[in-house]
This record gives sequence, C-alpha cells and structure tokens, in this order.
Amino acid sequence: MRNSRKAGFVYGVAMLFDSGSKSLTEAYSAMSGTKSVLMSGDMADLFVKQAKQYADSRPNYPPHLFTFIASKTPSHQLAWDVGTGSGQAAQSLAEIYEKVIGTDSSEKQLELAAKLPNVRYEHTPSPMSTWDLQHKVGPEGSVDLVTVAQALHWFDLPTFYEQVKWVLKKPHGVIAAWCYNVPRVSPSVDSVFDEFYAVELTPYWDPARLLVENNYRSIEFPFEAVEGAQHTGPFEFVTEREMGLEDYLTYIRSGSAYQTAKEKGVELLREDVVHRFKSAWGEDEHGSHFKIATFPVYLRIGKVGHAST
Ligand SMILES: C[S@@+](CC[C@H](N)C(=O)[O-])C[C@H]1O[C@@H](n2cnc3c(N)ncnc32)[C@H](O)[C@@H]1O
Repeated sequence: MRNSRKAGFVYGVAMLFDSGSKSLTEAYSAMSGTKSVLMSGDMADLFVKQAKQYADSRPNYPPHLFTFIASKTPSHQLAWDVGTGSGQAAQSLAEIYEKVIGTDSSEKQLELAAKLPNVRYEHTPSPMSTWDLQHKVGPEGSVDLVTVAQALHWFDLPTFYEQVKWVLKKPHGVIAAWCYNVPRVSPSVDSVFDEFYAVELTPYWDPARLLVENNYRSIEFPFEAVEGAQHTGPFEFVTEREMGLEDYLTYIRSGSAYQTAKEKGVELLREDVVHRFKSAWGEDEHGSHFKIATFPVYLRIGKVGHAST
C-alpha cells in the first residue's frame, strides 16, 4: 500500500459550446513583451527551494477531475499546464490530450517532473513575455485547455487572463484552475495540525494564500460557465494520499509559510511540535504507521466564449 494514491469524485457538471473568435494580436503588439504572469518573483523563489519536498509529498489529483475537465473541450489536441511544478497535473493530462506543455518559472521543479513522450516542459521566466507565450506555448487560438493546479493565487491575474484568452481556441477553449486545502488525517492529528496552522503557520502566509483558504470562492475568474453549469465553481472534488509521519512532515515543510519562516530564521517544526505530531500520529487499528490523508480540491472552470481581451 506504501505510496499508493487514491482519489474520489465528489461533484461535477457538464458544459455548452458556441462559436466565433477574436484576435488579440494588436493588443499583444502593444504589450511591452515583458508582462508578468506571477505576482511576485520572491514567491517563485520559495518553490525553487522546496522543489524536492514538493515533488515527494504533494498529492496527485483524482482521475475524475481530469475526465470531467476534458469532457468540456471538444478537441483534445493541446493542453497548457501553467505553474506545472513537478508535473502532477501534466502527467494526467498526457493520458487524454495529444500534446501537453507544462510551463514553470522554476527550473528546479521542472527537473523533477516525470518525462513523457507527449509532454514538453518549458522554463518560462517571470515575468513571462509575449514571445515566451507564442514560442513556448503556441500561437493565438491554438490551445484547447489551460490548467492551473494550486498556483493561480500566485499569478498577476489580469495579465495572465489576457494571455489565456488570447491563446485559447475560441469559443470552445476552457480554463480549469483548482486548489486544494489542508489535509485531514485523523481527529488527533488534525487537532494538532489545526492549532499548529492557526498559531505557527498563519503569520507566515502570503496574503495571496487567503484565496486558497476561501477555496477559490472569491478569486477573480472572468469566464463563462461551461455546459450544464450555472456558474464557474468552485466545484468540489477530493484526493487522497497515503502518508507516513515523515511524509506528512515533509508536506508541511513544502508549504510556502514554512519556507518563509525558515528564511526569517524561524524553525516552525521544533522538536516539541514534532513530538506532538508523533504522539497524535500513533498507529491505526491494524498497527500501520501509514494513514490516508484526504485533501479537498476546489475547481473553477469556464470557457473563453467570444472573449476579447
Ligand atoms: C504550489 S506549486 C504547484 C505545482 C503543481 N502545479 C501542483 O499541482 O502541485 C506552484 C508552482 O507555480 C510556479 N510558478 C509560480 N509563478 C509562476 C510563473 N509566473 N510562471 C510559471 N510558473 C510559476 C512555481 O514555481 C511552482 O512550481
């Protein structure tokens, strides 16, 4: 059972398509060519430093999430996974889309991503330029699906959405962005975690992280509802990962708040804190030290329609 991952579908919708397209070439010529897709270079640096911990401890996403999203794009030629990290979403998309491009501002994250024949990983500097978009992702109206997994809250949204609307096929192109919130393990572990989260981690969260606290309910998302939906979400899914105590602590260390504290010379996982987690972890009724951590996943999904940017 070690390292196995399971996932389950909680909620989903279907979608509607229409036609037409608008060019953004002029708008893009007007752009300086150096607009940023990321809110802060400092935040990107945090993900460079914890890349290995991130790859080792973060959950994969449930298969149903991808089949649901893919059911909303009429063709499955090209998907762009932005902030792909170590390719968690890109790998699943590669089973459905002919070609996947995973971009990230962290080369270190990309180095840890699983290589697949139909996935191309591209390092895109922050700020990402128009040239990068055209040459590393594709020309105007060429992408079926844009995905952003656990990264949208770090982006400069107006600029990013302008790029998304330009590169998506119109009107059918879809953007799907999701985040997951803190894992639930067991009443005893969760109670230690909740106190640790409130007292130790919270002071070190970047304000952008509040959008995740809010399950992406309040994140700006200027797209049309897909067929069968009255709104663009959030729609809730769930994913699970089997973890031992060390995996769980690695998960905590991979978080941006932990990294920020560390940069300020503060070790949040002090010996007494680890001891509390250790006591709460214990063993389950089968004597196993491994537990299933359940992560709620919140999806925003929309189609580009006849958007002009
Ligand atoms: C929390 S991680 C998510 C990684 C992965 N998508 C996942 O689901 O686990 C956020 C990722 O966004 C990347 N990122 C931040 N700003 C970026 C930008 N402007 N362009 C591309 N990637 C960026 C970071 O390097 C990091 O890999």
